[in-house]
Amino acid sequence: MAEEERATSSDANQFTLRDLVTSDEVREIHLTIDKQWGPLQQSARQTAAIRALWGHVVKDPLADVLAGERLLQGMYEKMRRDRMSNAKEISGVMLAIRTLWFDARLEAAIEAFGGGHVQLVLLGAGMDARAYRLSYLKNTTIFELDFPDLLQLKSDLIKQAIASSDNQTGRLTVSSERLIHVPADLRKPNWLQMLTDSGFSPGTNTVWVLEGILYYLSHDDAMQVLETIGRALEKTAHTVLLADIMNKSAVSLSNDIYQFYSDWPDQLLPRFGFCNVKVSQIGDLDANFGLLTDPENLFERRRKIPRSVDIDPLDGSPCCRLYFVEATGSPLG
Ligand SMILES: C[S@@+](CC[C@H](N)C(=O)[O-])C[C@H]1O[C@@H](n2cnc3c(N)ncnc32)[C@H](O)[C@@H]1O
Repeated sequence: MAEEERATSSDANQFTLRDLVTSDEVREIHLTIDKQWGPLQQSARQTAAIRALWGHVVKDPLADVLAGERLLQGMYEKMRRDRMSNAKEISGVMLAIRTLWFDARLEAAIEAFGGGHVQLVLLGAGMDARAYRLSYLKNTTIFELDFPDLLQLKSDLIKQAIASSDNQTGRLTVSSERLIHVPADLRKPNWLQMLTDSGFSPGTNTVWVLEGILYYLSHDDAMQVLETIGRALEKTAHTVLLADIMNKSAVSLSNDIYQFYSDWPDQLLPRFGFCNVKVSQIGDLDANFGLLTDPENLFERRRKIPRSVDIDPLDGSPCCRLYFVEATGSPLG
């Protein structure tokens, strides 16, 4: 690899591969992942690669190890090409903003609960490392639900990172009170039971994080997931739901990998018992984080077009949108 590609990862323009990422042990685990995982699980590594490459704004001590060398290189190249061609948006900016939005709304939700123990349920947790990177989760039990093979190899990668953390990055520890893996398939109706068997308690204040998951599910499965959470609301003390939801145009452009969509999450969620539904779009005040520097970026243009309009009147392209949605489980939250 060229020397300039090994420069510091704290710089927005450059990226270093740590020795840990190129170690035989970590490479071997990623080779297994290459061979064994389908596209659904693979999407988790892509998200981690983006968090690692946007490390100047998202502080994630595990993102590079969880993404692996090949995906990091690929993402780095994409971003480099975007910078060289003065692109209006740099690849990955959407997911960097998404991560920061979920972090910010999660912190606000925990603060609003006013103290005490909190449950954080990450559905389709993938390579999420919030348990290791957010200090405000110290009174929290985190449940990471995903496919069994993903959770197993994620644990193996984290073990490697912990083993090497003394001399390379400082000590890597879980910042939440507890971290529990729940190997389950959201398409099966027993996932809530499996969560409950793992210690989820319906009477505890809970934040549900559905980040990068609903659109991978079929319409029926996504509705089943929302309905199941809605049913759990009846017993839960205070609940906040955080989710990102694509609109129909965004889903239609994909080759079947994306399925569930909603053009009006503000009308959908109350059907399952949620209140105070707030919908944001990338570029809004709460979903910007100063990362959209070109005033003519695509997200800014989309925000200015009413949500009821499907086709951009300027160039005739479909108005693809990713909504960030926050809702509470009761009028009081
Ligand atoms: C794009 S990744 C997002 C991961 C993580 N939430 C993040 O934002 O980094 C989607 C994740 O959903 C998981 N997933 C997809 N379908 C699932 C299902 N039916 N049951 C459990 N997990 C699923 C995948 O394995 C993958 O880890």
